[in-house]
Amino acid sequence: MHLLIPSAGSGKRMGSHRNKLLLMVQSHPIIAWTLLAAEAAEKIEWMGIISQPNDWQDFKTIIANLKLTKPVELIQGGTTRQESVHNGLLALPSSAKQVLIHDGARCLATPDLFNRCAEAIRHCPGLIAAVPVKDTIKVVATNGIIQSTPNREQLWAAQTPQGFDVNLLKQCHAEGVRQGWEVTDDAALFEKCGMEVRIVQGEETNLKLTTPQDLAIAEFILKTRQQES
Ligand code: CTP
Ligand code: MG
Repeated sequence: MHLLIPSAGSGKRMGSHRNKLLLMVQSHPIIAWTLLAAEAAEKIEWMGIISQPNDWQDFKTIIANLKLTKPVELIQGGTTRQESVHNGLLALPSSAKQVLIHDGARCLATPDLFNRCAEAIRHCPGLIAAVPVKDTIKVVATNGIIQSTPNREQLWAAQTPQGFDVNLLKQCHAEGVRQGWEVTDDAALFEKCGMEVRIVQGEETNLKLTTPQDLAIAEFILKTRQQES
């Protein structure tokens, strides 16, 4: 299975002056943990890191230090995540019929989650890892007044990996460009095109490292895993 890793953000909410994926947790840059998990997932055979060229030297050094056995390619990122993924799709080898897409910033996803998604995408056109939400979610108007309370049984928090049939996702991205759709994940494009997206059970620990607090939580989880292994 081919894996695209969007890693071309600037990490504004992390408050760092550089790509947050280069920040260290437990003695490795964030992106290194993501790559190690993909390397350890036997169903992943190829990785494409979508990133900005001014980070490429750092990424190349990280890749070389990890001594990965799987092929890794660097693909030029875009100004939005959506654009980055679009670039990634166009850079996939023609042999890739299905693809998994996983945020570089979700460095705590386990190899088991990659393997389960890689297996499941062989049997459906689209999927995402997700977990049931624990909080009650409110729909709130801009004036701060609650509009409604959706039934929690139907609410899931979307994660990555997200997996798709490559040709269908390419068509959805092209339609998104034509229609000017702006979405935060690929499943949303797929849904807008009327395509079915299935849920795969995600992981509570599969956080997207977004703010400085998330760094501390990731540090704790990785340390605990190291002590347990
Ligand atoms: N991403 C990307 N290309 C972009 C923007 C984001 O590939 N133009 C990637 C990020 O590198 C990250 C993932 O998409 O791995 C999820 O995005 P997010 O967590 O929002 O990261 P940033 O955009 O870097 O952070 P922020 O929104 O706080 O600036
Ligand atoms: Mg962002």
